[in-house]
Amino acid sequence: MSNFLRSDLENILGSCTVTPHVNQVLAHVGNTPSELIAYCEGKGILVEAYSPIAHGEMLKNTDVAAMADKYGVSIPQLCIRYTLQLGVVSLPKTANPDHMRANAEVDFEISDEDMTALRDLRARDYGEHSGFPVFSGK
Ligand SMILES: NC(=O)c1ccc[n+]([C@@H]2O[C@H](COP(=O)([O-])OP(=O)(O)OC[C@H]3O[C@@H](n4cnc5c(N)ncnc54)[C@H](OP(=O)(O)O)[C@@H]3O)[C@@H](O)[C@H]2O)c1
Repeated sequence: MSNFLRSDLENILGSCTVTPHVNQVLAHVGNTPSELIAYCEGKGILVEAYSPIAHGEMLKNTDVAAMADKYGVSIPQLCIRYTLQLGVVSLPKTANPDHMRANAEVDFEISDEDMTALRDLRARDYGEHSGFPVFSGK
């Protein structure tokens, strides 16, 4: 399932016989649904972060670029590593084999301090894609 809020989960958990195994949610640097992730974990529901690079918009973020530079990685690598360190599955998408290879090379560690900074960051502008229901909060 995807885009289930806590209220949706409470609703389904109240009557289901099999707990849903996975909830796919919009989660990326700039939009971290921490409470929902914690709730899912508490119920044994695996969280998958879709659009971990904010549908590509994070590539333009200068603050995130500066932090990626500090770690000597690309913005997508920082964003993907961030979601993994949140304890969720990361679902980046690319049509470029070089990008795909690079996106799998995330064997570095973001410090606790930088994880907090990335978690606190708010960036929810999806440019020309802002009207899509999944990005408009509808
Ligand atoms: N369940 C849902 O409601 C829902 C909603 C939205 C999306 N999703 C799923 O989530 C997955 C990913 O989401 P998404 O496509 O919205 O966003 P995303 O993975 O955050 O971003 C994709 C964009 O990032 C670029 N990119 C990826 N790796 C890169 C790299 N190493 N260097 C430079 N650019 C890079 C891609 O371009 P290139 O192709 O040029 O690399 C593409 O433009 C998809 O599988 C999608 O189906 C699920």
